[in-house]
Amino acid sequence: MVELTSRAHPVHLFFFFSLFLQAQGQQLQANEQTILLRLKQYWNSPPLIDQWAASNTPDAHCSWPGVTCTGGSVTELDLSNMNINSTTPSFLCELGNLKKLNLSNNNIPGGFPSVLYNCSKLNYLDISQNFFVGPLPSDIDRMANLQYLSVAANNFSFDIPPAIGRLSQLRYLRLYQCQFNGTYPAEEIANLSNLVVLELAYNMKLIPSSFPMSFTTKLKKLTSLWMTNMNLMGQIPETIGNLESLQLLDLSRNRLTGKIPSSIFTLKNLSSLYIFGTNLSGEIPQKIESLELESIDLSENKLTGSIPEGFGELNKLQSLVLMFNQLSGIIPESLGRLPALTDVRLFSNNLSGVLPPDFGRFSPLEDFEVDNNQFTGPLPENLCFAGKLVGVVANNNNLTGKLPESLGNCSGLIIVSVSNNRLSGKVPGGLWTLFNMSIVQLKNNDFSGDLPDRISSKLSRIEISNNLFSGNIPASMGTWKNLKVLDASNNILSGSIPYEITNLSLLDTLLLDRNNLSGNLPESGSSSKSSKNLLFIILAAVFASSTVMVVCTFMLKVYRNSRRDTGYAWKLTPFHKLDFTEPHILSGLTEQNVVGSGGSGKVYKVPIYHWQGRCVANRLTRGT
Ligand SMILES: *[C@@H]1O[C@H](CO)[C@@H](O)[C@H](O)[C@H]1NC(C)=O
Ligand SMILES: *[C@@H]1O[C@H](CO)[C@@H](O)[C@H](O)[C@H]1NC(C)=O
Ligand SMILES: *[C@@H]1O[C@H](CO)[C@@H](O)[C@H](O)[C@H]1NC(C)=O
Ligand SMILES: *[C@@H]1O[C@H](CO)[C@@H](O)[C@H](O)[C@H]1NC(C)=O
Ligand SMILES: *[C@@H]1O[C@H](CO)[C@@H](O)[C@H](O)[C@H]1NC(C)=O
Ligand SMILES: *[C@@H]1O[C@H](CO)[C@@H](O)[C@H](O)[C@H]1NC(C)=O
Ligand SMILES: *[C@@H]1O[C@H](CO)[C@@H](O)[C@H](O)[C@H]1NC(C)=O
Ligand SMILES: *[C@@H]1O[C@H](CO)[C@@H](O)[C@H](O)[C@H]1NC(C)=O
Ligand SMILES: *[C@@H]1O[C@H](CO)[C@@H](O)[C@H](O)[C@H]1NC(C)=O
Ligand SMILES: *[C@@H]1O[C@H](CO)[C@@H](O)[C@H](O)[C@H]1NC(C)=O
Ligand SMILES: *[C@@H]1O[C@H](CO)[C@@H](O)[C@H](O)[C@H]1NC(C)=O
Ligand SMILES: *[C@@H]1O[C@H](CO)[C@@H](O)[C@H](O)[C@H]1NC(C)=O
Repeated sequence: MVELTSRAHPVHLFFFFSLFLQAQGQQLQANEQTILLRLKQYWNSPPLIDQWAASNTPDAHCSWPGVTCTGGSVTELDLSNMNINSTTPSFLCELGNLKKLNLSNNNIPGGFPSVLYNCSKLNYLDISQNFFVGPLPSDIDRMANLQYLSVAANNFSFDIPPAIGRLSQLRYLRLYQCQFNGTYPAEEIANLSNLVVLELAYNMKLIPSSFPMSFTTKLKKLTSLWMTNMNLMGQIPETIGNLESLQLLDLSRNRLTGKIPSSIFTLKNLSSLYIFGTNLSGEIPQKIESLELESIDLSENKLTGSIPEGFGELNKLQSLVLMFNQLSGIIPESLGRLPALTDVRLFSNNLSGVLPPDFGRFSPLEDFEVDNNQFTGPLPENLCFAGKLVGVVANNNNLTGKLPESLGNCSGLIIVSVSNNRLSGKVPGGLWTLFNMSIVQLKNNDFSGDLPDRISSKLSRIEISNNLFSGNIPASMGTWKNLKVLDASNNILSGSIPYEITNLSLLDTLLLDRNNLSGNLPESGSSSKSSKNLLFIILAAVFASSTVMVVCTFMLKVYRNSRRDTGYAWKLTPFHKLDFTEPHILSGLTEQNVVGSGGSGKVYKVPIYHWQGRCVANRLTRGT
């Protein structure tokens, strides 16, 4: 023995040892390939997994779709979006080195997959967006190595078990959008001192509770706290300012009352602050030290007082959303010079004074909505300086002056809505023909000039009643194919109503009363996208004064109904940006429509505008 040892050169020993290891490795690999093939069979070969094919190469499976190996052994399975529609088999844990399992966005039924308790090395588990039901198990802490757990967007119900608070390694805890209808273990969750991301949002069936003070004292590493719509009541504690690492804070759609704690604006790393749709009152704190803020949404509260001057120093601010409050006073002029500002939504407040003239001049402004306030003076001249503007909505103010010339070649513009002001002058010529222009609402102003010869092929609403438009209705109107509404009552239009109007098969509302129109009403010929509707439109009344009133009450009713019908022509697409096209503008989406009720087990994001150009949905799915 001694001799043998002495003669065996270390290199040889190493060689044999490697051979042994290699053989063992190949054995393991062959086993793992077999396990994966069993998995494929168990799940009935969904299309992508169908590409998993047996091979003599021992580690062939390491390059199969969704499979990741480390040192020849399977450590990660990303089986998200694979159309898996049956339960998880227990033999999956025979993949003894599995660390990360992603089953997100499948159709997996049944209860929580406790069979995964046997995956002893598992530290990432994502089972979000499936059809899971029932409780989260009260011994879920047996998955002791978990650093990441997402069960979001399933139908889990009952209490969130206290055992969750014993998963002490957890850094990410995503529990949003389930059907939990009991309590959540706030004190235990507060014990998860490594938590970086905590998401409890859209669990609106939870028993009402107040904001857990212990979160603010113990979860010091949190960068993201998403607690939207989960039945929070009472006040936001001033200690929230302890959460120094916070980048995102979202407490929207709860029944919170009281003031916004001033400590919130001391959070140095805060970039997104959303507390909309609660019952906060009082003034917005004036001292603003959160210079990383990119997005602020405090809309739909009962906030009073003025917009803090300090907002004018937020050089990263892109989105300022304060609509539906009772804010008063002027908009600080410095806001107009913020370099990153894209969205300004201040409508339905009690703001007054002149709009800061620099809005749009120094930033890529996209959306400017200031309607239902008491602004005076002109619209800012350079709103479209960067060429990014898609909408101007400024109805119901006391604005004077002309429409900014810059709107005339503002190529991306979709909506201009400035009714009920005292604006005057001619509409910038190019405005009507902008490629995407869909809605022009200028009612109740003093605008003058002729109607356009040509309009954008997307333009569907022209509302210009109670102005001083003059001249003829152009015969080219026959090409305004997408027009649904033309309201031009009470102007000084003259001449006759062109026959070509009968070409407009989508037109359902035509109001031309109180003008100087004369002659006969066109009749739709005996002919064909399409002239049936016109029979309704041409229900006209001709007055002695040769004023023509063309009102189609029937169609008007249809139009009104369709506006109220929120189910009209919109679609939900997971996580994709949709085009801002006509049906979406008219759809009047509400938040409930946008984030599914958990019913389908899917989360949806529809970053589109409702009919007045309000973007309602881009705030909803920041979770992932
Ligand atoms: C489950 O998925 C498999 C494979 O895609 C399919 O053949 C089967 O019809 C599906 N079953 C159900 C109930 O949807
Ligand atoms: C799981 O997959 C989904 C969809 O591809 C992805 O969004 C999610 O981040 C993944 N989860 C983890 C933990 O990587
Ligand atoms: C875990 O594995 C053991 C041994 O393979 C088995 O007896 C047990 O049923 C498994 N547990 C679960 C929850 O699948
Ligand atoms: C919670 O929801 C589950 C599943 O729908 C139901 O069985 C249970 O009765 C509910 N509990 C309460 C307290 O409403
Ligand atoms: C929090 O953790 C501490 C220390 O492990 C433990 O003593 C305490 O009971 C835990 N609190 C809760 C509510 O679980
Ligand atoms: C704030 O962010 C910076 C840059 O990412 C980081 O270095 C710092 O640690 C963060 N501060 C806190 C309190 O988390
Ligand atoms: C806000 O308070 C009013 C009564 O003060 C109540 O009717 C309303 O439901 C509350 N809104 C929310 C979101 O809690
Ligand atoms: C709006 O502001 C005006 C003064 O600018 C004030 O007289 C009025 O009371 C305010 N209205 C509301 C509802 O706050
Ligand atoms: C509009 O026209 C002016 C003058 O021709 C030009 O300077 C500006 O860049 C144009 N803006 C856009 C958005 O096209
Ligand atoms: C708008 O201006 C008119 C005339 O100056 C004034 O009578 C009216 O009260 C103003 N309306 C608002 C809402 O400020
Ligand atoms: C019109 O809208 C479409 C869809 O949003 C967009 O891709 C396109 O760039 C827009 N056209 C212009 C000229 O802005
Ligand atoms: C989830 O809950 C919703 C709403 O209660 C229900 O419509 C849906 O059928 C449920 N889905 C499953 C898979 O249980």
